[in-house]
Amino acid sequence: MSPGRSAPEPVTAVFESAGAWLPNGLAEVEEGLLAAAESEGPLTADAVATLKAGGKRMRPMLVLLCAGPGGGRAAVRAGVAVELIHMASLVHDDVLDRAPLRRGRPTVFAESGRGRATALGDRLFSTAFAVLAAESDEFAIAELSATAVDLARGELMQRRGAFDTALSEDEYFERCRLKTGRLFAAACVLGRASVGGTGKEVMAEFGHRIGLAFQMLDDVLDISGPAERTGKARGTDLLDGTVTLPLIQAIRVQPALAEVDLRELSEESAVLFCDRIADTGALDSVRGRAMALIEEAKARLSSSGLEQEQVRLLELIADGVVLRYS
Ligand code: FPP
Ligand code: MG
Repeated sequence: MSPGRSAPEPVTAVFESAGAWLPNGLAEVEEGLLAAAESEGPLTADAVATLKAGGKRMRPMLVLLCAGPGGGRAAVRAGVAVELIHMASLVHDDVLDRAPLRRGRPTVFAESGRGRATALGDRLFSTAFAVLAAESDEFAIAELSATAVDLARGELMQRRGAFDTALSEDEYFERCRLKTGRLFAAACVLGRASVGGTGKEVMAEFGHRIGLAFQMLDDVLDISGPAERTGKARGTDLLDGTVTLPLIQAIRVQPALAEVDLRELSEESAVLFCDRIADTGALDSVRGRAMALIEEAKARLSSSGLEQEQVRLLELIADGVVLRYS
């Protein structure tokens, strides 16, 4: 398998410098995703498009890297299940946000409507557990169901805090830990567990940190754009009422920004508001904090008990999270 659609940057570097076991494992995940989703009946075109739509497959890659060259079918199943949960959460997220675009393409919500998108998300979500249950992967089922609960808690927290420009940094980080860090952590833990490895806590700490950094940089991109690169309009989070770290930090520099009523923003004024946030220097500051988290994550690997090759590749993928956004 070539490092093509399923392995765009930052993953390409990892892909190219790993032994054949990694691309082979990812090819199996790719096959497993389609096979699992098709197991209860043929997929419609929008479902196939969702499964193939430009995903970076970062989470399955983390599963496979944490399992290492000795990872077998259990690692592949965990990679498939983690990616299905991730995709289900995005399809549902786009329903909740009424999002027109994801990764530069129309969302299932935009193309097929709210009902279909909800049902497709449900199907992807439940298939993840069917994949694990078919082989009685009990630990993985427990870990992934607890993770799904946290994802939903993160989303609920986001709804509760919507349009609240007084949102604290602690609340922001807790939400990001739940909605993003948790699934990255689960990917690392499941990979390690699939080969009976110890040190799951360290793997979770590593995954959490790169997941948090990933989310922080995603939140920076929402403000900085450009739309051609992100595949969605600048200020989409603000229009949805999602208060993110760049805004929280910008308000600290310029308290008057807190007076802006996010409900009143139009697509045009959201872009101008993004410029005001950027002018405070908040974006560089958030980027710096995300990079510090990446360094912290990499430092955790020294006590992980993983092989040198795995550590090197995990460091590369951690760096890739930042590089992608620089
Ligand atoms: C995308 O992030 C969305 C998430 C990380 C989580 C969404 C979670 C849910 C919808 C609830 C749980 C769902 C399941 C199936 C367990 P973002 O909204 O910050 O970024 P983006 O929309 O710009 O990609
Ligand atoms: Mg969203």
